[in-house]
Amino acid sequence: MAENLSAENGDDNIEIFDYKKGVKHLIDTSPHLNKLPSQYILQLPKSPLSAPLAHVPVIDLHGLNNGSHSESRVSAVKAISSACETWGFFRIVNHGIKMSVMDEMVKVAEEFFELSWDEKMKYGSEDVMSPVRYGTSLNTSKKHSLHWRDYFRHYGHQNTLHLWPLNPPNYRNVAKEYLEEIWELAMKIGGAISEGLGLDQNYLEESFGEGLQILAANYYPKCPQPEKTLGLAAHSDHGALTILMQNGVNGLQIKHNQDWVSVHHVPGTFLVNVGDCLEILSNGKYKSVEHRATVNAQRTRISIAVGHGPALSSTIGPASQLVDQKDSVRYRSITYKDYIELQQSSTIRGKSALQAVTTK
Ligand code: OGA
Ligand code: NI
Repeated sequence: MAENLSAENGDDNIEIFDYKKGVKHLIDTSPHLNKLPSQYILQLPKSPLSAPLAHVPVIDLHGLNNGSHSESRVSAVKAISSACETWGFFRIVNHGIKMSVMDEMVKVAEEFFELSWDEKMKYGSEDVMSPVRYGTSLNTSKKHSLHWRDYFRHYGHQNTLHLWPLNPPNYRNVAKEYLEEIWELAMKIGGAISEGLGLDQNYLEESFGEGLQILAANYYPKCPQPEKTLGLAAHSDHGALTILMQNGVNGLQIKHNQDWVSVHHVPGTFLVNVGDCLEILSNGKYKSVEHRATVNAQRTRISIAVGHGPALSSTIGPASQLVDQKDSVRYRSITYKDYIELQQSSTIRGKSALQAVTTK
């Protein structure tokens, strides 16, 4: 490892490289790093920074506040179902969450990453199911090419607040408010999605039962050779719906019609995407979308992704109303917990976990 590094890095003098301390630690301790350590160099067919810009559908959620039969609700439901079918990714405006609540959440996440490594390591874990987890690169502890990301994840909605960080001191309050508001928002969108699928408006929420929310705070520091690596490899999210925001720095890319396209930051908005549970529930009508994160040489990027899915012990499978003789069950049933383990433990990303439960 050290050999590779000195060969790659010439004068940088990084003899000992403890990647487990994460990329923030690496750049803090090697401020003059001007080449990417070889372990982070990924085999990419072309520079991820060359992907063109795409405009994902923009949905005004205001209409969802109105009664079921109002014209504005009907048109918002239609717009959401069409966005789920064509893109699987959309931007929401008029979502009702104050900019100050969004900004505070990004701020406490940033303050968390700025803590000392020892402090952050109080939350370090190799267990993919741990309700609180700090780490670097991909989520799995299996051997893999390194990715330019540190992350911090924890559950929400279920009673795990006592496990969240005590430092920064306002972390728990800020994250609690943020996650509660985001849960409400996800259920509102989930109601529209259920309706758009021809199901009862409460279908998604009821099938979630107790429901699990997972917050992932991603930290992508400035990177010396961003064209050679990624912050996060291509993957689809295991939950049903993810609600994502970022600190004003671009980096999200999604796979649309087989090509990678960049989705830009728009202040005050969230991006919402279809995850594997929703693909399964809809029996394949809506497809989860592969996405990845690029990094850049100028600015640290922080993103906060919040996933929403059923309780860990629930069985996920297609809604029976959406399965008919013509269109048989396309996914075998599995508990959400087993599904997460299947997905998170693998170093093969993309949609490999979903393929493993596809019946054809
Ligand atoms: C994730 C994710 C994308 C980003 O955390 O699952 O896809 O833009 N993040 O950081
Ligand atoms: Ni994701």
